[in-house]
Amino acid sequence: MENEVRLTFLSKRCNIAVIRNMLGAMLVDNNPTITFINELKTVVSEAITNAIVHGYDNKEDKYIEMNVFLYADCVKIDIIDKGCGIEDVALAREALYSTKADEERSGLGFTIMEMFSDSLIVESKKGEGTYLHLEKNW
Ligand SMILES: Nc1ncnc2c1ncn2[C@@H]1O[C@H](COP(=O)(O)OP(=O)(O)OP(=O)(O)O)[C@@H](O)[C@H]1O
Ligand SMILES: [Mg+2]
Repeated sequence: MENEVRLTFLSKRCNIAVIRNMLGAMLVDNNPTITFINELKTVVSEAITNAIVHGYDNKEDKYIEMNVFLYADCVKIDIIDKGCGIEDVALAREALYSTKADEERSGLGFTIMEMFSDSLIVESKKGEGTYLHLEKNW
């Protein structure tokens, strides 16, 4: 392992920018392409947005955990919330499925996350929260 950062932050939208900048700073020594950084930031932004909007129903006083592991050949990231959880993960991962379609959500977050990562694991339990693990190869 080349590096590891573990963070806990409040479920506020402004923290998405904080995390995006932190990721950029953490990866810079590995000379990633702009495309790689942009794709990884996009995946992480979608996941954190989901934790805030769905997991915590936009409450700003909850906590999201994120662990980032840098390896020579890939980046692995966990994003964890202790929010409402997902009843049917397979259904939630389907393109265009959204429980907040009435709030201008398009149901494409998971599709985007899958598109820009090499592996995406989602484990969730109703009422307990959601664990997301992604891997992206350099
Ligand atoms: N962390 C989470 N906690 C609870 N439910 C979640 C979480 N992440 C996703 N979901 C559920 O999965 C559904 C699909 O998520 P996805 O990101 O694909 O779409 P969306 O967030 O509804 O829309 P978009 O991402 O396009 O704005 C959500 O509508 C929500 O019901
Ligand atoms: Mg989403």
